Amino acid sequence: MDSKVVNKDTQEVKTFFDGYASDFDGIYGHTDKRGPIDKLADKWFRKVMILRFEETLNRSVKPSIKTIIDIGCGPGLYCVEFLKQGKEVVAIDLAENMLSIADAHVKKHASEKTDKITYLHADYLEHNFDKQFDSACLMGLFDYIKDPVELFEKLKKDITKEVYASFPKSGGFLAWQRKVRYDMRNCPLYLYSLEDIKTIMSKVGLEGKYEVVDCGRGYFVKVDMS
Ligand SMILES: C[S@@+](CC[C@H](N)C(=O)[O-])C[C@H]1O[C@@H](n2cnc3c(N)ncnc32)[C@H](O)[C@@H]1O
Repeated sequence: MDSKVVNKDTQEVKTFFDGYASDFDGIYGHTDKRGPIDKLADKWFRKVMILRFEETLNRSVKPSIKTIIDIGCGPGLYCVEFLKQGKEVVAIDLAENMLSIADAHVKKHASEKTDKITYLHADYLEHNFDKQFDSACLMGLFDYIKDPVELFEKLKKDITKEVYASFPKSGGFLAWQRKVRYDMRNCPLYLYSLEDIKTIMSKVGLEGKYEVVDCGRGYFVKVDMS
């Protein structure tokens, strides 16, 4: 595993997720350490997470997708499913604690496929790859990305077929409350309107090449990179 974090914003995200790793895993229901208020917030959050999980897996299953990079893989739930679908997976995350949880989930739920996954402890934006991937999964990542255009410019170099991404919605009480909570923990958080997504796509020349699914508190976006 390799780690290189140069940007202050990224360092704050890394610190946040190294501390939050096992609680985040709890949102998926893997721990009962969460208190009643956290459990209520998790319930709201879980809905959008389940919808985007299904949207992603329904698309990644096609045989033309052989390799996937899971960017900001977190606790590795997607990695397990991609492995079960027969894909070769690269899992990259800033937070080493997340990668340890991901490794444990893979060993438990896809034990016969452990040779098909590589873990990278790195900032995706700073990491140069010596090969391209058919697809990329960016779930819950744009929440922490200061310059989404820069990230899409990099994806255009690294990905040949499809990108699956989520964008948390701006506006409304729950979005505001989440932003306040993250501010209090010194973690940057970025929220998006449909108009923001359109602007990003047009800046990177991907207009007409993406579809958006409204998942309630967030958007699922599939982009055709071919
Ligand atoms: C909210 S979690 C989502 C985890 C997983 N994708 C999921 O949906 O279950 C976001 C993850 O992105 C990672 N992350 C944020 N910025 C990153 C970057 N620039 N490069 C790699 N990982 C990053 C964080 O460390 C965190 O584990």
